[in-house]
Order: sequence, then C-alpha cells, then structure tokens
Amino acid sequence: MRLSLRFVIPLLVALVAVAYVVAPLADRLTLRWFVRDLDIRTQLVATAIQEPLAAVLTDTVRDKVRQQRLQSFLDRITQDERLYAVGYCDDKGRYAYRTVTLPRGLECRPPGAAPEAGGRVMQYGGTSLHVATAPVVIDGARVGELVIAHDMSFVERRSADTKKYLVALFAALGLVVALITVLIAELSWRGWMAGIKALIKGQTFADAPEPRAKELVPIARDLRVLVQELESERRRRDEAQMRWVPETLRTILHEDLKGDEILIVSNREPYIHVRDAEAVRVQRPASGLVTALEPVMRACSGTWIAHGAGSADREVVDANDHVRVPPEAPSYQIRRVWLSEEEESGYYYGFSNEGLWPLCHIAHTRPVFRAADWELYRSVNKRFADVVVAESRTRNPIVLVQDYHFALLPKLIREQLPEATIITFWHIPWPNPEAFGVCPWRNELLEGMLGSTILGFHTQFHCNNFFDTVDRYLEARVDRETFTITHGGQPTEVHRYPISIEWPLRGVSGQPPVPDCRVQVREELGLPAQAKLGVGVDRLDYTKGILERFAAVERFLEMNPDWVGRLSFLQVAAPSRSRIEEYQSLDSRVREAALRINGRFGGGACPPITLRIEHHDAARVQKLYRAADFCFVSSLHDGMNLVAKEFVACREDERGVLILSQFAGAARELPESLVVNPYDTEQCADAIATALAMSSEEQRARMRSMRSQLLEFNVYRWAGRMLLDAARVRHRARIASGVEGVRA
Ligand code: G6P
Repeated sequence: MRLSLRFVIPLLVALVAVAYVVAPLADRLTLRWFVRDLDIRTQLVATAIQEPLAAVLTDTVRDKVRQQRLQSFLDRITQDERLYAVGYCDDKGRYAYRTVTLPRGLECRPPGAAPEAGGRVMQYGGTSLHVATAPVVIDGARVGELVIAHDMSFVERRSADTKKYLVALFAALGLVVALITVLIAELSWRGWMAGIKALIKGQTFADAPEPRAKELVPIARDLRVLVQELESERRRRDEAQMRWVPETLRTILHEDLKGDEILIVSNREPYIHVRDAEAVRVQRPASGLVTALEPVMRACSGTWIAHGAGSADREVVDANDHVRVPPEAPSYQIRRVWLSEEEESGYYYGFSNEGLWPLCHIAHTRPVFRAADWELYRSVNKRFADVVVAESRTRNPIVLVQDYHFALLPKLIREQLPEATIITFWHIPWPNPEAFGVCPWRNELLEGMLGSTILGFHTQFHCNNFFDTVDRYLEARVDRETFTITHGGQPTEVHRYPISIEWPLRGVSGQPPVPDCRVQVREELGLPAQAKLGVGVDRLDYTKGILERFAAVERFLEMNPDWVGRLSFLQVAAPSRSRIEEYQSLDSRVREAALRINGRFGGGACPPITLRIEHHDAARVQKLYRAADFCFVSSLHDGMNLVAKEFVACREDERGVLILSQFAGAARELPESLVVNPYDTEQCADAIATALAMSSEEQRARMRSMRSQLLEFNVYRWAGRMLLDAARVRHRARIASGVEGVRA
C-alpha cells in the first residue's frame, strides 16, 4: 500500500502538471514563436517579391495587361502552401489587387496611418490566419502596401504534436521519478529507521548500520534523550514493580547514568591475597559491607579502591596497584592503597575502631579519642581522596564512599572533583546528638560527610539522628521535608537505604539438601544425630551480643533441664580487630563463658556451647545455616546485620527459626522472626524455647514471609535505589546548568 502510493503519487503529479501547467504554457510559447516566424517570413516574402512586383507595376503596358500580369504574379506566390492570401493596396489605401482568398473585411490601412509593428492573428472561416503588411517601395518612394495572410493551421498541427510529445515525455519522466522515489524512499526509510533505531539504542553513528543518515544524528540524539528520560521517569515511578536483578543495575547504569564511571571506596577489600607457606591464597573477609557490595560491583564493573591489607596483596597487583577480580571470572578491578603500620594503627585501629565504632554503637564500650589517631585518620582520608581523583577518568564520576573509615572523604573529593556525584553509605548506626557530641572532632566529621551528594543510612531512625546531630552542632539548613541538609551552599540528601543480600544467594544452589547438611554437620561436630542445633555467626565483636546469647542458652537450660544433652549452640566467630584490647578481652570472656556453661551443663556428647573462633568461608557458613534448627542474632546495636538475612536465604526448605535482636536494623524488615531484647536474658531464653517447640507449619509460614521480603528487597534494589537517586540528582543538575547557560 505504502509502496503503491509512493509510485502513483509522483506519476499523478507529473500528469496534472502537464495538463494544467505545461501544455497551456507550451501552447502560448509555440504560438508566440510561430507568430514571430511568420512576421519574419512576411518580410522575406515582401522583400523577395519587391523587384518583380516593381517591374510589373512600372511596366508601361495597358492597365488591363498590368492587372493580368499582377494577378498571375501574385497567384503564383500564393501557391506556396502556407501563403493563404495576398492583397496589394495602392497609395490611396484601396486594394489594387487581392486574391480571392483574402478575407472580406480585411481593409487596407488608410494612407498616413502608422504601420503595424508586427502581424496579428485572426480567425477566418474556421482557419487561423496570420496577417501582416509590408510596404512596397519603388525608387525610394512608397507606392503601396502588401497585405500577406499566412495559414496558421500548420501551427495548430505542430502545437498538437508538441503537446503529444510533451505529455509522453512528462509521463515517462513521471514514471522514472516515481520509480526512483519508490526506490530511494524504500532505501532511505530502511536506512533512516535502522539509523534512528541504532542511534536511539545508543550506538554511535559509526556503529549504526548502513545506510547511515548523518542528518538523523541530532534528531536521534534528541529522541534518545527523550526516550531515556521517559524511561527513567517510568523506572522511578515503577520502582516498586521492578524486578531487581544484576541486569537491572546494568540497565540503570547504562540508561539512567549513561554509562558514567563508578568508583567504590572502602577500607576493607573484597578479596585479600595471603601467603600460605608457599602458595598465595585468596580470602573473602568477614564483612557485611563486602558481602553486600561485591555482587553490586560484579554487576557494575568499575574500580573498587581499598586498603591492601593482605600479606600477598603487593605480589599480585600490576604497576598501577590494580588487580582484576573475582579471580574465577574477573569483572571489575581493585585499586589497592598501601598504608604504613603507623597509618593502619592510627587510622584503622585507633580512630575508626576505638573511636568511631564504639561512638556509633550503643554497646557501652567507651570510645577512645587520641589526637595522633585523628591526624592519621585525616591524612589517610586525604590519601584516599587523591587516589579517587587519580583513578577517575572523568571529572564527574559517581563515587560510592563506604562507612565510618571515610567520614572526611566526601568533602576532600568534592574539593578536587566538584562535579562528582558522591554517595556515602554509613553501614553502622548513627547515634543521637548527645552520644555523638562527645567526639572532639564532631564538627569536622559532620562537615566531611556533608561533602556528599547523597548520604545513606539503613534506617529512618538513623537518618533522624543525623538530622538532629547536624541541627545541634552545625550552621546548616536542615529540611526534613525534602530530606536535605544544606551546608556552605552545598545540598546533601539524606535517605534510608536498607542494605540486603543478593537473591538468590550465590552458592546456596550448590549446597547439599538440608537433611544431608543436618546429618553432615552433626557428624562433623561430633553431636548426636538427633541433637537440636542453634547457630550464631559473627565477627568476634562486642556489639554482637555473643555473651548475652550464651547467657540466654544457659538460662534456657536452667529452665528446661530436659534439654541438657539434646541441644547444642554452635557459635562461629571470625577473629576481628584483634590488636585492640577490647577485642582481646572479649575473646577471653567469650571463651571463658563457653567453658563455664559447658562445665555446668556439659559432660555428654552434646555440649551446650560449641565455640569456633576462626574464619569460616561462605560455603561452610551456608551449610551451618541449613543444618541449624534456629539462628540467634543478638546484636546489642547493629546497622542492619546480614547474618539474619543470609540464614533466611539459605533455608529454601522453609524451616528453621530466626531469633533476632530488636536493636539490629534487620528486625524492622523481618518481624516474622522472634524479635528479642538481647539484654533481657529471660525473654531470650523463652525465645529459644519457642523456637524449639515451633511447629513446622508455623516455621514455614514465618520463613515464607521473610523470604518473600528478601526476594523483593535484595541488594540490587539497595544499590539500584541509590543509583537512581544519583541519576535524578545528576539529571536535575544538568537541567539547572542548562538554565544557567540560558540565563548567562
Ligand atoms: C562492619 C563494618 C564494615 C567492616 C566490617 C568488618 O560491618 O561496617 O565496614 O568492614 O564490619 O570489620 P573489619 O574491621 O574487619 O573490616
């Protein structure tokens, strides 16, 4: 249909043009040319017959003879096919002779009248005649005038012929034009469409398929921007309906952030290379932060900047201190930053973990602030800022700053890369203003954090504490309606982004079935096959409430002596920050407590506490989760706690009970767990009793609900929401700078 129209239309246009424009124009033109020709012909005829006519007129014969001679002379002339009639007017303005064909009513010009400039056309008896006059001069004196009429029917014939040729010519031209139009239209349409499609998809002009239509580039660019804006607008609106998978992050990065570069900064690196006797081994650290960010980084690529703390870290990097990871299928790179022992001691152990960590966790461990540690914290933050700038290929990268080790980093980056989008995520709780206020460098810390474009916490409660703290200590505008703090003219949005785990959890599908895990783990631990097993998995940290957990187990056995010998609680604790006294003391206290409780209720094959203070890899931990009847998370204060979420993720059998501290951020998302106050030993002991007595139906119902929550709110959503917010801020900034441009 489209094709035939493209063919018929040019043809019709050609025909209409011939009928209404070309043919009348050709008629008029040919007529004018022929009239002019006949004018000239008339003069030629007149000139040619001038002499013989003069001879006849001046012959001294009788009038009658002269008349006859004149007649036969002029009759001879009119034998010319085109010469229709001739008349001779004497000097008195009368016809001295006229051929019979000369039209009646065609009078001689009166003597003295001005001669006509050219001939005229007249109709006579259905014939078109061209009539013109020419003087007859003898010896320089005008003696009369010839009236010569030419038959113009040949003009009509020729004109009709010309018209025929013209119509044929134009029809042929129309046909050719129609064919060419169809051909070009088809090719261009395909090319244009392919070009537009390719360009909208974001291919470069050179990548677009042939034929490339250069003129489409700006149109396609505008279209693409429009489509992307509509798409990202829709994405923001439909966030709740989105399926959060790695591909979603890649789409956001590609479409919403237009492939901008991503840099992550954290203290702890996702892969640690350690030397073991002869070989170099790769270790995964026990860090919730790393657990969450690693899948995000796999999806986004980019560069992860972190402290190179492993004993073999230097051996595996390239000349620029880069190493590609994950080792089995590299998809992003780590940029390692080397710290001296002194730097590590002051910045990491000192200010970060003896100062800020206890400051932010209400676990009743006093923070220690040393000026020397603070100086090193500042200088290491500056070192990392310089590395971010050095690693950044563009002037406006997206920098994801992680955790309390880098409170000063956002401002330091902003000073060097003012157009960067800096998203800072604080993985630990934020205390109330009074608690935070004891830090001697509280204002510098807050100002450093407010260099961020977006600042994230796990819960709204922590966001509110941060608003209150800034309100209390800084000259800043705190707008709780738009969740924005403006300090020194720089706005920072503060939002809640509850962190999570990947879903499905990597490695779970490769685990043995749950009944096998139950049997194998009990065998490995030397427990009776029927023994019930509780599990706790943490870093050995005083915020985790390990002692409180043990106290609950002890109390439970006190209250339920029939469970002695039938229940064992396995505590896995990864050694952590062990150079810090508080951690060393915790280590001893935990070991002592386990010994004491085991001494009190043990003796048999099933000790109440099985303590393993060592690093366990992810696969091992997953197996333990699957073997357990319940998992106990008793943090005294915790930003989120991913152990709780991992336990749920590992239980696709929909069995097992989660006992969860109300002081862990995760309790807000997993209310189907048995939520407890870890300081309330009685309540915790009751929770253990409830867990052990819970029917399979109830376990299933609770697990199902928690699993569906995690399926929906996984780590891709956590990262995706931050990236979408970053995209929104960048988009607005672009519009604002456009408006500025217009104003300027
Ligand atoms: C917490 C912190 C992380 C840290 C992790 C392990 O989860 O929020 O930033 O990496 O503990 O602690 P570590 O000191 O061993 O890195």
